[in-house]
Amino acid sequence: MRSLLELIQETDGALAVDDPATGEIIARVKAYSVDEISSIIQKADAAQPEWASKTAKERANILRKWFNLIIDNMSPLAAIITAECGKPLWEAKGEVTYGAAFVEWFAEEGKRAYGETIPSFAANKRVLTIKQPIGTCAAITPWNFPIAMVTRKVAPALAAGCSIVLKPAEATPLSALAIEQLAIEAGIPKDIFKVVPVTNPAPVGTLFCSDPHIRKLSFTGSTQTGKLLMQQAAQNIMKLSLELGGNAPFIVFDDADIDAAVEGAMDSKFRNAGQTCVCANRILVQESIAQEFSAKLTAKVAALPVGPGCDDAVKIGPLIGPAAQRKVHQLVEDALAAGAIAQTGGTAHDNEGNFYQPTVLTNVTSDMAISCNEIFGPVAPIMTFVDESDAIQLANDTPYGLAAYFYTRDIGRVWRVMEALEYGMIGVNEGIVSSEVAPFGGIKQSGLGREGSKHGLDEYLELKYALIGGLGKPS
Ligand code: SIN
Repeated sequence: MRSLLELIQETDGALAVDDPATGEIIARVKAYSVDEISSIIQKADAAQPEWASKTAKERANILRKWFNLIIDNMSPLAAIITAECGKPLWEAKGEVTYGAAFVEWFAEEGKRAYGETIPSFAANKRVLTIKQPIGTCAAITPWNFPIAMVTRKVAPALAAGCSIVLKPAEATPLSALAIEQLAIEAGIPKDIFKVVPVTNPAPVGTLFCSDPHIRKLSFTGSTQTGKLLMQQAAQNIMKLSLELGGNAPFIVFDDADIDAAVEGAMDSKFRNAGQTCVCANRILVQESIAQEFSAKLTAKVAALPVGPGCDDAVKIGPLIGPAAQRKVHQLVEDALAAGAIAQTGGTAHDNEGNFYQPTVLTNVTSDMAISCNEIFGPVAPIMTFVDESDAIQLANDTPYGLAAYFYTRDIGRVWRVMEALEYGMIGVNEGIVSSEVAPFGGIKQSGLGREGSKHGLDEYLELKYALIGGLGKPS
């Protein structure tokens, strides 16, 4: 693959990429025009039937090579993630492993795109289904996991026999370009998977939704943009996967192992400096243990080292940009003005760059803006509840339904609360639920469809039913 240095040396493109830890421009990459992307879509569509005509095993062998190349290039890929997205190197390496796992998983899962035979309703007819690739697909990926969100969409598309054109986030095109480079090296034809960075995303979203060659769009990003894409996609009745915003509750019951719950809250809240759609957004603690839990969490949060991701000791890197930092601070200020108390943090960090002090707020209430908006920063707001039904009511009181977490040692409560929470993913005594083997996705305004697992492959397949008649009778 081209080295990070070579990617950075591509200095004549229109899309400037900066390092969120310093604000310095580290690369300028080519930005594609809508016309160029339109002709790329046509090429992807023309190339798709040949890719689909390969056996699942042939495609799997190529995907397996791609997986091996990603793993072999762990360090340079992690360096690219850290340079453009800011997350610490150790965490970036974790993302490379996570991203590669989708390629490995779908390489195998593509071999299991089974149809079915259905017991017939008539003696001389047979009923069966087959699964076929949906065709040419488009994807729009976010900056917070610039490799894993690419592979989570591209690997199932390729395994299913589709072609795919992908627009990466404007802030993080280098990781996607590096992944594309490795895909080409692995033998994936260049028209089958193409990355198209742009400076202005809106017209590309419109193109993806209106171009008649595109049969499916997969988007990860805000609920607001998801709604717009959904309206636009209605034009072509296009299949959609939408992984949108969240407002994850993290509930700690009074029978929980409090130390385990504190660890889980650290994992869930502070992963990627709080910049994931599944990060705990509201920490709900039962009144009788609230003080102990808050004190233990505050001690850990106050000790988190903040700084540039390339520093080995750092646990919390910068936020993605100045607007993100302002938004987080505004939510904190509003909460403090409305009566919340900062146990630690509560201000931007002294460092240059887009850093925010890891923060714990207590006395938070459900009417504060911080309880209703996705924080996307290292801020843990704690509110209290009285009993189980109060916790469930507070947790479900949001239009979002992506991930929820709760800690308890009562087996009855495990089932009751798991069933009552209106969320697509539930962590029970676990602060992180993401895995290539499990279906990732939300309900309500958090989106449509699932990524990862066998369900993630189905998003790129059409189900065809055939009725075979005229079988007659044995002579
Ligand atoms: C996201 O924040 O969109 C993805 C998080 C994950 O895959 O765990």
